Amino acid sequence: MVRMRRLRANSNIRSLVRETVITKDDLVYPVFIKEGQNIKEPVSSMPGIYQYSIDRFDEELDRIISAGIKAILIFGIPKHKDAVGSEAYNDNGVAQNAVRAIKQKNSDIIVIADVCLCEYTSHGHCGLVCGSEVLNDETLELLGKMSVSLAKAGADIIAPSDMMDGHVEHIRNVLDYSGFKNTLIMAYSAKFASAYYSPFRDAAQSAPSFGDRKTYQMDPANGREAVRECENDIREGADIIMVKPALAYLDVIKDVSYMTNYPIAAYNVSGEYSMVKAAALNGWIDEKRVVMENITAIKRSGAGIIITYHALDVAHWLEEEA
Ligand code: PBG
Ligand code: ZN
Repeated sequence: MVRMRRLRANSNIRSLVRETVITKDDLVYPVFIKEGQNIKEPVSSMPGIYQYSIDRFDEELDRIISAGIKAILIFGIPKHKDAVGSEAYNDNGVAQNAVRAIKQKNSDIIVIADVCLCEYTSHGHCGLVCGSEVLNDETLELLGKMSVSLAKAGADIIAPSDMMDGHVEHIRNVLDYSGFKNTLIMAYSAKFASAYYSPFRDAAQSAPSFGDRKTYQMDPANGREAVRECENDIREGADIIMVKPALAYLDVIKDVSYMTNYPIAAYNVSGEYSMVKAAALNGWIDEKRVVMENITAIKRSGAGIIITYHALDVAHWLEEEA
C-alpha cells in the first residue's frame, strides 16, 4: 500500500522532501520615490507602503539592507508632468537622482529601474499619445533615452513596463551603443491589463486620464499569447522575463517556464498585496501564513524572482525562523 503520510510524519521529514523553499535572495522590493523634500507619505490603499523623498528614503534603505533584501525596484514620481514625459529622461530627474543616491550609499544593492512613461506624462499613458492612440514607434525613442539616463545614473537592471512592441530590442541597442553592454534588461513581457494595478496607480500617481491600457497591455484571457510575448522579448535580448500579475496568472508562469530556461520573474502586484493586507487587518486571515503560501505558490509555478510589497515582512519572518 502506498502511504503518502510517511513523507509528512514530522517536520524534519517534511523539510527533507520540500520542493520549494523561499529565501531572501528571491525577493525584489518595489519602492516609490517622490520628488521633493522630507516626504514620507503613506499610500492609503497599500497599508505599510509609503512614498519617500530621496532624503527620507535613506532610513528606509537602512531597513531594507539590514533585513537582507538584495534588490529593489524603483518607481519615480516627478513634480512636473507633461505630454511627452520629459522628466522620465532628465539626467537629474527624480528616479535618476534616487538611483545615484542609493548606489552612493550602498553599491552592492541591485537597483532595478522601472522604465515607462505613465508616471511622467500628464495624460498618464505609458507612451506618446496622438488623439486617443498610444503611438508605438515614436515612444521607443523616449524609452531608449530613459533607459540610458537610468543606466548612466547607476541602475543595474532596466525594467521596461510599457508594453510597446519592439521595446526590448530598441533599449538593448541604445544601451549597447551608449556603452552599457553589461546593464541587464528585465522585461515586463507578459503584462496583463489588470484591475489589480489600481492601488499602484494611487501610489505612483499614474492612472490614465482617459481610456484604458487595453491596446498595449495583454487581455487577461490570453495564455498562449503570453508565451509569444515572452518569446519575442527573449529574441529581442531580454536577460530576465516577467509575468505580471502573479497570483491570478500562475498558469502563465508555468507555461512560460516550460517554454524557456531564461530566468523568470513574477510581480505580486499592488492589488494582490492590498487584498491580503485588508483581510489581515480585519483579523480574517493569518497574514504571515497567507503571504508565505502565496509566494511559495509563485515560486512553485516557476518564477525564481518574486517582486513583492511583502518583501520586507517576508525577510523578517525568514529571519525569525532561522
Ligand atoms: C507602469 C506600471 C504599473 C505597474 C508597474 N509598472 C501599472 C500600470 O500599468 O498601470 C503595476 C504594479 C502594481 O500594481 O503593483 N507601467
Ligand atoms: Zn506605464
